[in-house]
Amino acid sequence: MVRSGASCASAHCGCGLAAATPRAPSGRPIVEGAIPGAKMNDVPGRLPPFLAACRGEPHDRVPVWFMRQAGRSLPEYRAVRGEGSILDAIQQPELAAEITLQPVRRYGVDAAILYSDIVVPAFAVGFGVDVAPGTGPVIERPFSSRADLDRLRPLEPDVDTPYVLDTVAKVVAELPDDVPLIGFAGAPFTVASYLVEGQPSRTYAKTKALMLGDPVLFGDLLDRLAALAADSIASQVSAGARAFQLFDSWAGALSPAQYERHVLPHSRTVFSRLAELGVPGIHFGVNTGELLGLMGAAGADVVGVDWRTPLSVARQRVGDGKALQGNLDPAVCLGPWSAVAEEVQAVLDDNGGHPGHVFNLGHGVLPETDPAVLERVVALVHGDIDG
Ligand code: CP3
Repeated sequence: MVRSGASCASAHCGCGLAAATPRAPSGRPIVEGAIPGAKMNDVPGRLPPFLAACRGEPHDRVPVWFMRQAGRSLPEYRAVRGEGSILDAIQQPELAAEITLQPVRRYGVDAAILYSDIVVPAFAVGFGVDVAPGTGPVIERPFSSRADLDRLRPLEPDVDTPYVLDTVAKVVAELPDDVPLIGFAGAPFTVASYLVEGQPSRTYAKTKALMLGDPVLFGDLLDRLAALAADSIASQVSAGARAFQLFDSWAGALSPAQYERHVLPHSRTVFSRLAELGVPGIHFGVNTGELLGLMGAAGADVVGVDWRTPLSVARQRVGDGKALQGNLDPAVCLGPWSAVAEEVQAVLDDNGGHPGHVFNLGHGVLPETDPAVLERVVALVHGDIDG
């Protein structure tokens, strides 16, 4: 079913340029009713703007959401969150659902992202993960030998992470029809970097030493983590998530050759296992300018771009069949509004009205960001205010 006679109200959207093809950027045919967890309006021509942009299809406003929109920068988050680890908070579905919904209410963003963390599947299968306040994930006994593979058994989402599925169901029941929930997982490399280093790292020395010193074991580790990611995302989609993002936040530490040989096959496994679900997949990392083509080739429908690479350059690297997500520098939001507005406009101009664009930051919202600024960014991207 091809959408016809569509018109666009947004100054930036450029729908007129869109080829109204009934195919996802991945080439998957878009079939009415084919999307698991889809609501009635998930049909070509009536897709929520976020899903339409993921597919490079016409839509009436440029969709926008922010990585790390749920959490630390919102006063209403701090009000409900209380003490304790994020791993405690996400096991309370009422609380996690409320935190997921807060930025949708406040900002009017076009997608929600689940309040959870990339270490949750490893935590849930008992690898011994904690999240230290102010530090991030820490591992009691880091991964160092073949025997440690046994500590990464397959995930049984119904048994191991029922609270995640409960949260997804609660969020989806509350969300407006045109605001999809994005499920997510950490990509094999980025999760491996925590399990091997035992804590956040700047150099990834131990991870690279394992990758180069024992590539077979490293590959087996990434295999296990690919299965955890795919199983976790699949369960979130069956509970109602309508898109997913695979976070390979730290893949930019690798050269293209290292990425292609040691990481790409495993991230590709995740995308190919999820392809049959028919929901768009986003692939994101920081500092990945040189990897964008490969990250697209891993099977993503949408490639996340940080602020170091202009969208126009990213589009050449990724190719025309995929959408892009990004790429405002999160630190820009700490500056005066005139500078923010100028940079937002520069991102939109650089995209040049291509329908396959989801506006986002190039990485997560910084904790010190004033929520009022993000509110205005959404209004500006939507064309509701002038800069
Ligand atoms: O900071 C908060 O908002 C409080 C809750 C929290 C999250 N993760 C939410 C989260 C906390 C304390 C963590 C622990 C954690 N996990 C950290 C330290 C966080 C910090 O800045 O203090 C880190 C670095 C991790 C590992 C992690 N989690 C990565 C690399 C990613 C991918 C996104 C990225 O930043 O590169 C996550 C995902 C994540 N953590 C999400 C949330 C709500 C989901 C993604 C999103 O909201 O966009």
